[in-house]
Amino acid sequence: MRQVYRPLPIDEEIKLNSKKIIVSKTDKTGKILYVNDYFCEVTGYEPNEVLGVPHSILRHPDMPRAVFYLMWRTIQNGGNITAIVKNLAKSGKYYWVTTDFENHRNSRGEIESYIAFRRPASKKAIEAIEELYSILLDIEKRHGMEASLVYLQGYLDERHTTYNEFMDKIVKPKSLMEKLFSIMKRTFRNSDNNVNYSDNYKEAV
Ligand SMILES: Cc1cc2nc3c(=O)[nH]c(=O)nc-3n(C[C@H](O)[C@H](O)[C@H](O)COP(=O)(O)O)c2cc1C
Repeated sequence: MRQVYRPLPIDEEIKLNSKKIIVSKTDKTGKILYVNDYFCEVTGYEPNEVLGVPHSILRHPDMPRAVFYLMWRTIQNGGNITAIVKNLAKSGKYYWVTTDFENHRNSRGEIESYIAFRRPASKKAIEAIEELYSILLDIEKRHGMEASLVYLQGYLDERHTTYNEFMDKIVKPKSLMEKLFSIMKRTFRNSDNNVNYSDNYKEAV
């Protein structure tokens, strides 16, 4: 069993390059299979420190468990989902990302692995989500995750929206950056292996 070092969080933000994306791929249990260069640059981990390690190595204690529960339930059922995630770097610093979690299927159509594509979360997205996450986290500490899932559903119902619609609204899928991001993801999916993949928006267009 590999020893996983857990950094102590410090209240310092890592500024992300809006032209680069952070990619990682996991097996079906969430163990990391692949990370791109920008992942290493931002997190401060070398590939050999994270390959084979559970992705929760990046979990920030400010993140409510309910968000990951929702994400896993969706991708395990063959769906894709977007979430705003606060991550913990090796230095203890944090960074906010808008993350698309997707499943990756083999030629027989079976889910083989999962991929996460991340770009910097906008100020608007962080503002929209930060308070909600702190409420969910507080509920989880007092009453457990079931209760925070109920709260989240109530929050969405009150706004007559679904989780996906809520995300679409705060992530602005029609923005230029989102369009470039889609091109980057397509490039990644179409490459024979992930090694040829470029981290940079510009190189993909
Ligand atoms: C493809 C993929 C990427 C993931 N990326 C992250 C990530 O960047 N940060 C994170 O905290 N969890 C990420 N997770 C979720 C973790 O596997 C885990 O569920 C989460 O960190 C909560 O950890 P816990 O279940 O030990 O509380 C990812 C999962 C998958 C499948």
